[in-house]
Amino acid sequence: MDHILGSSASWRSSLLFSGQLHEFVAGVAGVYASPVMTRERDADLPLRYTTPVEWAAGVLARPLDLLNDHAHLEKKAAANALELLNRWPEPNPPENWVAAMTAIARDEVEHLSVVSRMLARRGGKLTRQHGNPYASALHKLVRRGQGPEELVDRLMISALIEARSCERFKLLGERVEDDAELKKLYRGLWASEHGHYRTFIQLAEQIMPEPAVAKRWNQMLDSEAELIQQQPPGPRMHSA
Ligand SMILES: [Fe+2]
Ligand SMILES: [Fe+2]
Repeated sequence: MDHILGSSASWRSSLLFSGQLHEFVAGVAGVYASPVMTRERDADLPLRYTTPVEWAAGVLARPLDLLNDHAHLEKKAAANALELLNRWPEPNPPENWVAAMTAIARDEVEHLSVVSRMLARRGGKLTRQHGNPYASALHKLVRRGQGPEELVDRLMISALIEARSCERFKLLGERVEDDAELKKLYRGLWASEHGHYRTFIQLAEQIMPEPAVAKRWNQMLDSEAELIQQQPPGPRMHSA
């Protein structure tokens, strides 16, 4: 059977942002190698729906709305990592569980800080309310109350959101013109979120047997491809 992920040091890339490498946590995490497999190369994403390039031009037409949505997503990603930290599996949690979730939460808070400051400098304002129908739809897939199955689902949904964000940061980075700051932001985030995606999958692989993880991941990829296409259009990271 193929590994879902390669065994390269994704942890290091998970902690890269704006040229910074948080060496301590990367060192802690780098000892782990994925036991489940893949034909995927490091930079590849497993997504089963490819966002059209026109999507980027559409959302970039309203950059402040896009940055506001983006800032909210970073805030939710940080909260999600801390929520997962609290859900460590018993009796044998992966030894890097706390370090991994702490590192991701820290990355996401840093992203939130960068994006919200950029939004403010450009004259935008973080809204109080924020709808996230894509993540809400994904969370309906969670097998609640089923112990390891629930936790694996939560990790996979986290991985899917990271992977989809990666795909879209790449499109945005390629499409942005005459705005070096935004281009740098999107390119920097790609590496960080790609590392997070891999980390969530690797943790899932430590909680359930490889075939069960691979089978569920296959289902989740199909579901995500349907759900992303059902989203309303608009200046959001996860719009259709
Ligand atoms: Fe982030
Ligand atoms: Fe992330």
